[in-house]
Amino acid sequence: MAATLVYVPRETSAVSVGADEVAIAIARHAKEAGAGIELVRNGSWGASWLEPLVEVVVDDQRIAYGNVTAADVADLFAAGFLEGGDHARRLGPVDEIPYLIDQDRWTFWRCGLVDPLSLDDFRTHKGFAALEKAFAIGHDAVLEAVAASGLRGRGGAGFPTGIKWRTVADTESEQKYVACNADEGDSGTFSDRMLMEGDPFGLIESMALAGFAVGASKGYIYLRSEYPLAHTVLSRAIETARHNGWLGNDIQGSGFDFDIDLHLGAGSYVCGEETAMLESLEGKKGIVRYKPPLPAIEGLFGKPTVVNNVVTLASVPNIVRLGAERYASLGVGRSKGTLAFQLAGNIKRGGLVEKPFGITLRELIEDWGGGTASGRPVKAVQVGGPLGAYLPASQLDTPMDYEAFIQIDAMIGHGGIVVFDDTADMAQQARFAMEFCALESCGKCTPCRIGSTRGVEVIDKMIANDDRDANYDLLVELCDTMEGASLCAMGGMTPYPVRSVLKHFAGDFAPAAGGSE
Ligand SMILES: Cc1cc2nc3c(=O)[nH]c(=O)nc-3n(C[C@H](O)[C@H](O)[C@H](O)COP(=O)(O)O)c2cc1C
Ligand code: SF4
Repeated sequence: MAATLVYVPRETSAVSVGADEVAIAIARHAKEAGAGIELVRNGSWGASWLEPLVEVVVDDQRIAYGNVTAADVADLFAAGFLEGGDHARRLGPVDEIPYLIDQDRWTFWRCGLVDPLSLDDFRTHKGFAALEKAFAIGHDAVLEAVAASGLRGRGGAGFPTGIKWRTVADTESEQKYVACNADEGDSGTFSDRMLMEGDPFGLIESMALAGFAVGASKGYIYLRSEYPLAHTVLSRAIETARHNGWLGNDIQGSGFDFDIDLHLGAGSYVCGEETAMLESLEGKKGIVRYKPPLPAIEGLFGKPTVVNNVVTLASVPNIVRLGAERYASLGVGRSKGTLAFQLAGNIKRGGLVEKPFGITLRELIEDWGGGTASGRPVKAVQVGGPLGAYLPASQLDTPMDYEAFIQIDAMIGHGGIVVFDDTADMAQQARFAMEFCALESCGKCTPCRIGSTRGVEVIDKMIANDDRDANYDLLVELCDTMEGASLCAMGGMTPYPVRSVLKHFAGDFAPAAGGSE
């Protein structure tokens, strides 16, 4: 009799709530029962609130069981789990779970579905089909497709990827590089990690595609050190790809050479800034470089370099395979395609939701997220990481669209959405923004290095109700200086969360401080 396939995620959020123990318990109970099972450690489908989400394949259908604990396993076996038996944990077929099927999974479609370390499974699910197509259509057609798709960088700034790739392709050099930014330092974000843990070959293919398009033979992944599981998975996948001729010289007889080095960061937020990342990759201290020159012209080791976020890169294979028009037909205005929104903070159903741009914050937080975990009203939402504005509940109907967010002095960034309920003290959050900047500043420029420390002091005085109006004016002036005179967005954008608190939550400072909404 064929072994029954059982999927238990090996993904950081699932593992943090006991997925490894569940896997061990399932293996042990199956052995005791004399039942043949094949245990696959897949990635996460993104429904973190249901983890560990275990699946068993019955009649070619994947039946899901949610929030399974090791203590449930004996009970599950007694209920006929291996035949899809009924149990309180049973959610039904995984492809009928609304949280998952109502998404448009353009970039994350293989996450959860495949065995991340099986090259065969990857190939069965269109793996390397885009790279093979690229070899057939040529560099220029790939560059054109990326430009026509309207894809913009998912690392934070939303810069058009097609323009960046074309610049690198058009810059003459013996050596060019692809540097994948996997530093993922923003609060409430985990999409890069989920992709690397759930579809590592997908990232490898994406980087090879970028290299082929621009003429680069070497790629680097700059991975944050806090992601040990992603490091293990990626290392193994790179080794397998190399062993099977998908990395290295003359990939599959195409004449194209490309290899990848995996590099661990050292836990600095500013090393996610592209030029600091390049310094760090070169073995130097992670300090921001002056621009120009742009990395696309003089990047890693002074050579033309594509610097892209993990999700930006991973969006490209389907653009090449399925067509730029299809991607560009999703989204709104100049915000094309989909974004993997990450629901975090005080939220009932946290996880990753990939939807086209244009969906509103309210839809994401209420329909997908189910509101706050505490059941209390939403007070504020921080979108785009620690440099993003705190939005009040009155702005929840803002569509997720780069330009619409700029209009309200906010940013979408990497798509992290952190929810706060009405018990949050926003004056403390404003202080935290300045403190974070003071801690993480690379120190190269004065407005950020000194300004953030002075900012904490001024906010402390406002909180203590010490000469509050004068300190309010001082804080506003300090924010203007930091925004206008900082060398990079670290100091330049820290004023955004601070000003948003002054604008929307002034009441959280001493009573008579400053303006109000
Ligand atoms: C302080 C700071 C931290 C950043 N951290 C990250 C990061 O962790 N990951 C990332 O992809 N981009 C980060 N960025 C943005 C990068 O500088 C750069 O814009 C991005 O890697 C380019 O890739 P993209 O065009 O695909 O977005 C950061 C920027 C700043 C100013
Ligand atoms: S703004 Fe801050 S992080 Fe950026 S270069 Fe200046 S000191 Fe460094």
